[in-house]
Amino acid sequence: MAVSRSLDVNGRVVSIEIDDPEMPLLYALRDNLALHGPRFGCGLGQCGACTVHVDGVAMRSCVLPLSAVAAGQKVVTLEGLGTADKPHPVQQAFIAEQAAQCGYCINGMIMESAAFLAKAKKPSEADIKAALANNLCRCGTHAAILRAVKRAAEA
Ligand code: FES
Ligand code: FES
Repeated sequence: MAVSRSLDVNGRVVSIEIDDPEMPLLYALRDNLALHGPRFGCGLGQCGACTVHVDGVAMRSCVLPLSAVAAGQKVVTLEGLGTADKPHPVQQAFIAEQAAQCGYCINGMIMESAAFLAKAKKPSEADIKAALANNLCRCGTHAAILRAVKRAAEA
């Protein structure tokens, strides 16, 4: 039987109907709320394509059951990070460095970087590489991604 569940997403409290409280947050975001910034990649918590922020912490939404997201917790997706008119500094840096090839990994790269840079002031290149070590890019665009994150760190 479907039950109603409320979520705080991108600054708005929304209500969704779900059959399974263990359903991954990613499915609710993409299928119930049509937020397609977070991508389905591996579905196993290994590639980072589905990354969102939960209370400012980068989380893999493909392996985060809805039951683990408390009512008051604030979920932010790529759509809530910035807008086309006013992109987040990390989004601006990715645009400036043209840091996407196919773009599939970019949601995760940006969300992971934004959460990291919110806490790490003046990170070294090694710090940035370590922060993104578990975000995979099948296109091999890592050099441009690294340039973008460095640019955002210096902004
Ligand atoms: S889709 Fe979630 S980590 Fe790969
Ligand atoms: S740009 Fe294609 S997966 Fe990273």
